[in-house]
Amino acid sequence: MINAPRGTNDILPPQSFKWNYIESKAKYIFDLYNYEEIRTPIFEYTELFQRGIGEETDIVEKEMYTFEDKSNRSITLRPEGTASVVRSFLENKIYGKAQPTKYYYIGPMFRYERPQSGRYRQFNQLGIEVFGSQDPRVDAEVIAVGMHYMDILGLEDLSLYINSIGCPKCRPKYLKKLKDYLNNNRDKLCEDCKRRINKNPLRVLDCKNESCQQVVDGAPKIIDYLCEECEVHFDNLKENLQNINIDFIIDPGLVRGLDYYTKTAFEVKYEGLGAQDTIFGGGRYDRLAEEIGKRYVPGIGFALGIERLLLTLKQQGIEIPIDKSVDIYLTTIGEKAEIASFKLLEEFRRKGIKAEIDYMNRSVGGQMKSADRMNATYTVIIGENELENKRATVRNMKSGEEQEIDIDNLVNSIEKMI
Ligand code: HAM
Repeated sequence: MINAPRGTNDILPPQSFKWNYIESKAKYIFDLYNYEEIRTPIFEYTELFQRGIGEETDIVEKEMYTFEDKSNRSITLRPEGTASVVRSFLENKIYGKAQPTKYYYIGPMFRYERPQSGRYRQFNQLGIEVFGSQDPRVDAEVIAVGMHYMDILGLEDLSLYINSIGCPKCRPKYLKKLKDYLNNNRDKLCEDCKRRINKNPLRVLDCKNESCQQVVDGAPKIIDYLCEECEVHFDNLKENLQNINIDFIIDPGLVRGLDYYTKTAFEVKYEGLGAQDTIFGGGRYDRLAEEIGKRYVPGIGFALGIERLLLTLKQQGIEIPIDKSVDIYLTTIGEKAEIASFKLLEEFRRKGIKAEIDYMNRSVGGQMKSADRMNATYTVIIGENELENKRATVRNMKSGEEQEIDIDNLVNSIEKMI
């Protein structure tokens, strides 16, 4: 027996019905806010993520599924969607069209992390990205898309945390303060963080190690060092969120785990999830397109973990409707009836009527049980007699009422009844 790799999940029915449900609700919301779907490859050249996400991040340092293909090019299964979407935007010269550009995507991502509840090696994200505008109302809109989606799914008790993590203008001054502070507390930091102090001190701030966390608690906060432009942008975001009645908590410690962020960063959490409690997170990345393609294109977006969303729905006792039913179940008796019914079965389906038949040689009783199990609206009973008289018995499974219908008119008659 060969099992699935650790940290991956099979999504079987009826669970797959739930996936379809939440994806269709997401598509409804994305369309409502005028976002259009983009599909990018599942693998990219490794360099894209190294440059986009950042060399010293946990994702790039430890978590990427990287391999050489047969032409010795280094390939990586995408650990997130943003870098790919930016690459595609640049490569396809979408910047030449009217802006902003608003995309959404849904699909699997890959990170070699230690699996636990809410954390997998293949997981699925749905996300949005907006390009071309620096307007803080866009930041508020992106957050509103996520919060509106949470609302239509019926989720409650979620917390939105926001922060500003500055820009290349204000960050150097802050980083100097941070480095000094971290160097003064060097012995309490893990080996990774000691190395990161000089290379990328912001990454120390999201280290999960407990003793590092204690040091981080007392560290200077970037929000106290913002330049005027970042400060105005952040104030504007807060006003716009208030204007559309979205509650938020300012979390000066929020820096996110990817290097590309500037200005706005945010996360939405549900405490009941335990250690992996972030349902979605995102922020602005005005410098990422320059990093990837040497062109200035401001951007902002978020991504949501579908598995975590499903865990939250389950924890909050929100039932997802599962429509498992057929319109017609054809019960047959005898070989001739089987042949005639198989023809009818296809005719039903061609009319858009969901029909099913027995392929397991079940008795009539067994076939009726199958019809019940499949939640059939009607069963049609066809045996030798019915064929001879050209009349089939149609039973309404709810009321138990039966009627005889001319077999030649069966499909049309039932079409009218449904
Ligand atoms: P991220 O915070 O790395 O951001 O991931 C976004 C979400 O994906 C997380 O909040 C979580 O729900 C889910 N997630 C991440 N890793 C795992 C995992 N191993 N197992 C299960 N779920 C996971 C990004 O990926 C950015 N690209 C978001 C973004 C879009 N920023 C701007 N635009």
